[in-house]
Amino acid sequence: MSVIVLCAGGHAKVVIEALLSRGIRPAAVTDRDAARIGATVGGIPITGPDDDILKMDAASVELANGLGNRASRSDAGLAGRRALFGRFAALGYRFPVIAHASAVIASDAVLGDGAQVMAGGVIQPAARVGRNVLVNTRAVVEHDCVVGDHAHIAPGAILCGGVSVGEGAHIGAGAVVLVGVSVGAGAIVAAGAVVARNVEAGGFAGGGRD
Ligand SMILES: CC(C)(COP(=O)(O)OP(=O)(O)OC[C@H]1O[C@@H](n2cnc3c(N)ncnc32)[C@H](O)[C@@H]1OP(=O)(O)O)[C@@H](O)C(=O)NCCC(=O)NCCS
Repeated sequence: MSVIVLCAGGHAKVVIEALLSRGIRPAAVTDRDAARIGATVGGIPITGPDDDILKMDAASVELANGLGNRASRSDAGLAGRRALFGRFAALGYRFPVIAHASAVIASDAVLGDGAQVMAGGVIQPAARVGRNVLVNTRAVVEHDCVVGDHAHIAPGAILCGGVSVGEGAHIGAGAVVLVGVSVGAGAIVAAGAVVARNVEAGGFAGGGRD
């Protein structure tokens, strides 16, 4: 089964590394920027635009979302990553769970299609992680957490036990969300924030001016 990484940005390098750690060498990377075709990312060739996937039988290929995000105070920045996943998933293409060999995932944790757990990530018992969720480098999702589809738990962030993160929310690098707190859909938590109270959907927590 060939694995193709969609989007040749910085996050693609991390995804490729996770795949290689499992002995899986992606066949190709696609990118919408035609100028990049012929170059390599993480040692893997950029062979064409994303639409090249459509020439392939969905049963013959697996896809990995290589698009990361840049959050601001008003936008989790996850729309592109979500759209890329949604477009190809709706056409029947499969996004397997990708977990770096150094990730620790409890036996009863549940991960949705396309969930990614990068190097050193930890998912503890009874956690539920949705589709296309990115649990980035050394992030921790403690016991009984629920993480909605398309959310990003950025590098080094910690979700203490029983935290709920809504669909498409961004938890910034190194942030700590305390036990039982709910972060609403599309909300943004600043890098390094400590979140002790619930954050409303589309809301913002931490980060200087707050
Ligand atoms: C909080 C955040 C969303 C704000 O982004 P933004 O809207 O683009 O805001 P700016 O970067 O323009 O910063 C605005 C102000 O907040 C400060 N600030 C930004 N992020 C901050 C943070 N995490 N903690 C404390 N202060 C912060 C800036 O220094 C600036 O202060 P100033 O007005 O006194 O100069 C962003 O800085 C952040 O933390 N993003 C998460 C990054 C992340 O986790 N990346 C993971 C990539 S894998």
